Amino acid sequence: MPDQSTRKVALVTGAASGIGKATALAFAKAGYVTVIADVDVAAGHQALTEVEAVGSPAIFVRCDVSDPVDVAELMETIVQKYGRLDAAFNNAGIEGEAGELLDSGHDNWDRVIATNLTGVWLCMRCEIRQMLTQESGGTIVNCSSVAGLTGFPGLSAYVASKHGVVGLTRAAALEYATRKIRINAVCPGAIVTPMLERVMGSSEEARQTVVSGEPIGRLGQPDEIASAVLWLCSDGASFTTGQALAVDGGWTAR
Ligand code: NAI
Repeated sequence: MPDQSTRKVALVTGAASGIGKATALAFAKAGYVTVIADVDVAAGHQALTEVEAVGSPAIFVRCDVSDPVDVAELMETIVQKYGRLDAAFNNAGIEGEAGELLDSGHDNWDRVIATNLTGVWLCMRCEIRQMLTQESGGTIVNCSSVAGLTGFPGLSAYVASKHGVVGLTRAAALEYATRKIRINAVCPGAIVTPMLERVMGSSEEARQTVVSGEPIGRLGQPDEIASAVLWLCSDGASFTTGQALAVDGGWTAR
């Protein structure tokens, strides 16, 4: 195992649960120093315990990604403690309220856009600023969704935010392509996490409907997104930037 001074540093937002936690664990298993950022302090500390058990250094930082002060402080903490940031997974997100456009209000729109889209923009600004100071640059992966590639009725703010993440990823990737910063998006399909459980509800019928729509015949697991993120951050993806990679069991291939 490398010592702390030679390890790469990875940041995962929304790392207290689901896809973010699985990705923080995967970075730790790959030997990165892992920064777990989340607005949920109790779950964040629990995730930290699990990530530390892997044997790589990790910290938890409370951060609301929609708050520019929190995001700036998060980056200051990382730079003060480790002096660098090599990989970032901007994953924190919320589904918002379900309902037709006329039934979901302005508050819901503002909350979803602030977390899912403005949050990614705020994080990227701090991450890119730091990565530009590093000889080796860095890699960024933003969490979009299959809802960033196609429409879903009943979640219009969420769908708009995730399409926005894809556009933001493409534009930023082009801007920094020659400056050693690769920026991609991952677009998960239906992945078993607390968010999916909330969206599907508790009915077995709703679950079966989702499963039966999956070409691969099952739901995805958080570590199947984590492995895609790790690849996008690796040297194996050195010619890959500006992409929106669907990891969806074939859902968008139909
Ligand atoms: P989750 O609800 O299990 O985890 C989301 C995490 O983000 C939580 O720990 C939560 O506390 C944190 N979070 C929420 N708002 C935050 C904020 N303002 N600042 C910092 N942290 C915040 O959800 P899941 O499923 O793991 O989702 C992760 C990402 O994957 C989200 O961006 C979601 O939209 C996306 N996604 C999930 C899919 C799924 O089927 N589970 C499908 C497609 C995309």
